[in-house]
Amino acid sequence: MSDRRPASTVDDFFTLRTVVWEGGSVKMIDQTLLPGKFRYVRFSRPAEVAQAIRTMVVRGAPAIGVAAAMGVALAAQRSRATDMNGFLKELESSAAMLRSTRPTAVNLFWGIDRMMAKAKSAPSVREARGALSSEAKRMEDEDVDTNKKLGRIGAALLDDGDSVLTQCNAGALATVGYGTALGVVRTAVEQGKVVKVIVPETRPALQGSRLTAFELERDGIPCTLIPDTAIGYMISKGRVDKVVVGADRITRDGYLFNKIGTYQEAVLADRHGVPFHPAAPSSTFDLRHSHDEITIEERGVREVTEVRGRRIAPRGVSVANPAFDATPPDLISSIITEKGVIGRPLARNIKKVIS
Ligand code: MRU
Repeated sequence: MSDRRPASTVDDFFTLRTVVWEGGSVKMIDQTLLPGKFRYVRFSRPAEVAQAIRTMVVRGAPAIGVAAAMGVALAAQRSRATDMNGFLKELESSAAMLRSTRPTAVNLFWGIDRMMAKAKSAPSVREARGALSSEAKRMEDEDVDTNKKLGRIGAALLDDGDSVLTQCNAGALATVGYGTALGVVRTAVEQGKVVKVIVPETRPALQGSRLTAFELERDGIPCTLIPDTAIGYMISKGRVDKVVVGADRITRDGYLFNKIGTYQEAVLADRHGVPFHPAAPSSTFDLRHSHDEITIEERGVREVTEVRGRRIAPRGVSVANPAFDATPPDLISSIITEKGVIGRPLARNIKKVIS
């Protein structure tokens, strides 16, 4: 049973965590309610975590990676198995359910695989339970540390007075805390630079207006919300100095998979000579696959035909709702990671920096 608890306050948003392993359960901000309501929900079953990922209660590649890992830790706690064979079978069944939630962000699979490897290396069920609980907390803490490192490295690419175009939400809400693309902006602001963020609404799920504008406003970082249709206009009028976006997966051949609309930003940035930088932790790199092997998630048609439950399209109209797109490496200036900035040629340098 999920225990929907009211939020306290958001006064200390900067340090609040999106996903928390606490007292043997998972606590997460319900992002479907933002910006109207700020509320933590608590889950104690892997199926609840899977449903939260599917319905985007928690979303953003690093956040779903950590949430899924916590889902595996919950499975370990609930298991009644007494031998390792039975225990690992139960865990594998929860892992399969969690893996089936969303196909594109590689962090999801990274988080689950890391937990399964931990479970397999434990000598007994009792020790495995303890190890998985500690690993869940470790992954939560590591995420914030990694983003802060990445932020420091990326902030060097931003100049005082820059206007930075982003896409979707690659902020504190897309991670455990601090953010990737918005972590770069946060560090630049902490360093005393004046940086403004241009935030496309990011139809159809509106992560830009609902989440990015919300968290930037909370932190007092200047931002301008624009309709997605204004991106070309803003870039062509010289109102964007740099593009900094997040990533759901970066394949071994240097393709960036990120929220739908990222590719058009990259094409427009290239056309107008604006640098384009994805920011991503090493857990977002997929050295096993190339771009043509990746599944792009197609989400439900109602995200497009309705806005907050109100129909805005004729009944029965044909709809396509791809949630992500792929940007080829020739449109990417460099990639910001916690291990350094990866420059061109991306395919070769990714292998050198990410192991
Ligand atoms: O569908 P979402 O909201 O999970 O998509 C999120 C994005 O596309 C983010 O840009 C990406 O996960 C990077 S988050 C640091």
